[in-house]
Amino acid sequence: MKKFFSRSASRFSAAAFQRSAKFAKFTEFDARELSRIVGPNGILTDPNDTTPYSTDWTRQFQGATAAVLKPKSTAEVAAILRHCNDRNLAVVPQGGNTGLVGGGVPLFDEIVLSTSRMNEIRAIDATTGIVVCEAGCVLERLDARLAEHGYAAPVDLGSRGSCQIGGNVATNAGGTRLVRYGSLRGTVLGLEVVKADGTVLDFMTSLRKDNTGFDLKQLFIGSEGTLGVITGVSFLAVQRSVTVDVAYLACSSFNDAIEVYRRSRRRLGEVLSACEFMDGEAMRLVNTHLGLENPFLGRPNYPFYVLVETAGSAGSNSSSQLETFLEDLFEEKLVCDGILAADGRQATALWALRERIAEALRIDGYVHKYDLSLPLSQLYELVEAMRKRTGGIAKSVVGYGHLGDGNLHLNLTSDENSEQLANVIEPFVYEWTASRRGSVSAEHGLGLMKAHCISYSKSPEAIQMMMDLKRMLDPKGILNPYKTLPMY
Ligand code: FAD
Ligand code: MLT
Ligand code: ZN
Repeated sequence: MKKFFSRSASRFSAAAFQRSAKFAKFTEFDARELSRIVGPNGILTDPNDTTPYSTDWTRQFQGATAAVLKPKSTAEVAAILRHCNDRNLAVVPQGGNTGLVGGGVPLFDEIVLSTSRMNEIRAIDATTGIVVCEAGCVLERLDARLAEHGYAAPVDLGSRGSCQIGGNVATNAGGTRLVRYGSLRGTVLGLEVVKADGTVLDFMTSLRKDNTGFDLKQLFIGSEGTLGVITGVSFLAVQRSVTVDVAYLACSSFNDAIEVYRRSRRRLGEVLSACEFMDGEAMRLVNTHLGLENPFLGRPNYPFYVLVETAGSAGSNSSSQLETFLEDLFEEKLVCDGILAADGRQATALWALRERIAEALRIDGYVHKYDLSLPLSQLYELVEAMRKRTGGIAKSVVGYGHLGDGNLHLNLTSDENSEQLANVIEPFVYEWTASRRGSVSAEHGLGLMKAHCISYSKSPEAIQMMMDLKRMLDPKGILNPYKTLPMY
């Protein structure tokens, strides 16, 4: 397999990669043709305007783009791609630009195709909860519209205010509700996708059941903009819960945290809606950098915290179920401290402790971010191994994540982008994960950051098949080059 970039230069900048000579350079002709498609308000070329689209949320992936295009319809997306394919112009699909692996930002001069103006909800079926919408709908706004009908989106994540449903599908985002509603692979019913050559694929069924041949939409779920541009999504909304209760628990060991999760599944069953964890270091960072108060003020900073949420429909006894569950945990000394939110405001404050860790880390320093699936019993061993291995080089070494999904977010910070620290972490972190048959990307995808790491989690045969599919759907390789797959 051809190695196409060096890891020695500044890790995620254009200098560390090599622009593929097969792509054409953007010209005045392209600007004219493309603005004819999207109109004068649908194209940005001034670097002052395009910079936010070529810089990611972490600010660690900073590329450049020749133009940002903001189509308003599937027909416009199709016309853009037809032009770019004919002209060999590389294109990066972009939703809310909240991705954490550099998948949605251009590197050299690729055109950004932003779905931000495609934000119409086409239909909400009040009886079935089946929703049909455009890819650019922002998750939080979509969820608010669903609330009017007693429904909720089946996925929820801390970036809800900016991420778009198309981006969620393209990354197969996990988030905090996966433990209850499963992955988007199950709740997405249909997709509308535009292929690299501009062909519109109408997989927009709204059926719960459809076993006629291969389920082609699955190819595009989690494909990170490399196989096609998602323009429409049909999904099954979930019933909105009426009673929501949040408990925040402190544990003295990770094993106790696992036991809390195990019992929460058994005892809370269908009303369990989230089970998240964070360590004492994560708590220290949200206190220090965001001023979020430790709910156990005046008591020690415990090594582990578990957030358990239950949610039930009208008339359900989910609140009392949670209370009894908590009493038993205390009695059996599985938790050393705990708090049950008295109202929605307190529940939001408890959730902020967990959801805003990424923000606190960004303030702490340059963040080395890892998102791993591991067997639950070994999940935190990696954080401990990393602390030992990095010694004093790292500023903070933090572990948190989606306990119920076996998903660890391991983050290390340094005052500046430290190659020395990066080399101590990698490839160790990936080798350690692979040796436990874990995944080097649980939910964020591979993007630019981890395209070279796919073989830690996928066999050569699987990678070959992915490359074959890529060649079939995008023979010129114009869609999101340098990302997700090794160079083809
Ligand atoms: P972008 O960042 O714009 O793009 C992400 C990828 O999808 C890129 O490769 C892009 O090319 C592709 N893409 C985007 N739109 C399309 C489209 N219409 N068609 C084809 N390809 C497309 N992720 C989780 O999984 N779980 C979490 O809990 C979680 N929490 C987060 C919390 C914070 C504070 C932040 C900043 C991020 C978090 N993320 C999480 C990561 C991120 O929000 C998700 O990956 C999200 O799904 C990305 O959506 P987006 O619209 O921002 O996509
Ligand atoms: C989270 O669960 O908070 C997100 O995936 C973001 C992160 O990994 O920091
Ligand atoms: Zn996460």
